[in-house]
Amino acid sequence: MAQANYAPSLDDGEKLTREELSALQLERMKWSVRHAYENSAHYRASFDAAGVKPEELQTLADLAKFPFTVKDDLRRAYPFGFFATPRENVVRVHASSGTTGKPTVVGYTKKDLETWGSMVARSIRAAGGRPGMKVHVAYGYGLFTGGLGAHYGAEALGCTVIPMSGGQTEKQVQLICDFEPDIIMVTPSYMLAILDEFRKQNIDPRKSSLKIGIFGAEPWTDAMRAEIEEAFAIDAVDIYGLSEVMGPGVANECVETKDGLTVWEDHFYPEIINPETGEVMPEGELGELVFTSLSKEATPVIRYRTRDLTRLLPGTARTMRRLERISGRDDDMLIIRGVNVFPSQVEEHILATPGLAPHYILEISRPGRMDELKVYVEAREGDDIDPDGKAARSLQHRIKQFIGVSIRVEVVPPGGVPRSLGKAARIRDLRKAGK
Ligand code: DLL
Repeated sequence: MAQANYAPSLDDGEKLTREELSALQLERMKWSVRHAYENSAHYRASFDAAGVKPEELQTLADLAKFPFTVKDDLRRAYPFGFFATPRENVVRVHASSGTTGKPTVVGYTKKDLETWGSMVARSIRAAGGRPGMKVHVAYGYGLFTGGLGAHYGAEALGCTVIPMSGGQTEKQVQLICDFEPDIIMVTPSYMLAILDEFRKQNIDPRKSSLKIGIFGAEPWTDAMRAEIEEAFAIDAVDIYGLSEVMGPGVANECVETKDGLTVWEDHFYPEIINPETGEVMPEGELGELVFTSLSKEATPVIRYRTRDLTRLLPGTARTMRRLERISGRDDDMLIIRGVNVFPSQVEEHILATPGLAPHYILEISRPGRMDELKVYVEAREGDDIDPDGKAARSLQHRIKQFIGVSIRVEVVPPGGVPRSLGKAARIRDLRKAGK
């Protein structure tokens, strides 16, 4: 496994003590709540309906008095009704499509873009990146926040940016070979497609110039980290974010510990709630992640429910607290005969099964009264396609033993599972089609 040996390099925000950080959070939170109330029709209406006023926020814990914000609130304000600044002051918009209905639109003032750039720059530094390095950005450019977010953060840090965007996998490999980047920023699933292409072209990925990969935008596992680190001889770290809160760079893993994502708490205040009751949960408990923006001007979010499931943990490499690797979103969670299953759990077991490659899709169907789960997973390149069914049986057995659910497994030839260019689709749901 690759091991970077970079001494951490911290900006002023990262150097704050816990007390200084809490004081700054409270001051910014008071501003943010007031700003939202005074400038956004949505927040005025929702605070009034809950009977709470900005001045009731006297401590950080008082935030619990304020109502949650959900994706539908943004959707209802489509396209620009959620802005808390005049539209003329919004210098950029992004939008996330989601799975259904209208996209949610978010706006950024000049100052918001500066903050975002500095948070992504901080994230790249936490990953071991330094000014002067070359950064290959293979997150998609456009309304998705991945490409442009990574781009301006890398520029803000003083890196040389290669704005490749997603797709054109052959060209990705060519540019990595010719431009010799130090860092790649891309979804972990697309990194695997790039890996396939290296092998197809008979180029040793371990000999590439890459030293660091900053992977996010979708759930992935420590097993996948080990796979990618080994294949490319790089350090692989996790980056988290969502467009409603800003984009990539809300939290990032520090390369020296690789133990979950440090939340950039001077700009984003995290809470974990019980998704059923809405109650704030104690540190360390698993629940739904909720964010309040502390400095955003154009699209402030107060207690935004991300639907991502994780835990808040004390800081290690930094004073700021960490998030455990996100296991999944509540809408990606499958309930198979009463057992909760996340695709990322299945991924872990695929990677622990000899002969299987980390390309997979879960198919859920209801042939009778009961839901059935089937995993299509690729055989490793060069191996026979599971000739005696051993790999399939072994995966089935592991999933039964560790997750507690019976599934069917079909091992398909390399290339048999469609590749993503960005976020991987891990679930094929046939139930709606009546199958
Ligand atoms: O995916 C922003 C981003 C771009 C993050 C590039 C990291 C890198 P959205 O398209 O709005 O924004 O999707 C946000 O993606 O709520 C999570 O469910 C998921 N997600 C993002 N990062 C991670 C991660 C971008 N590191 C949604 N691990 C979030 C697991 C992630 N899930």
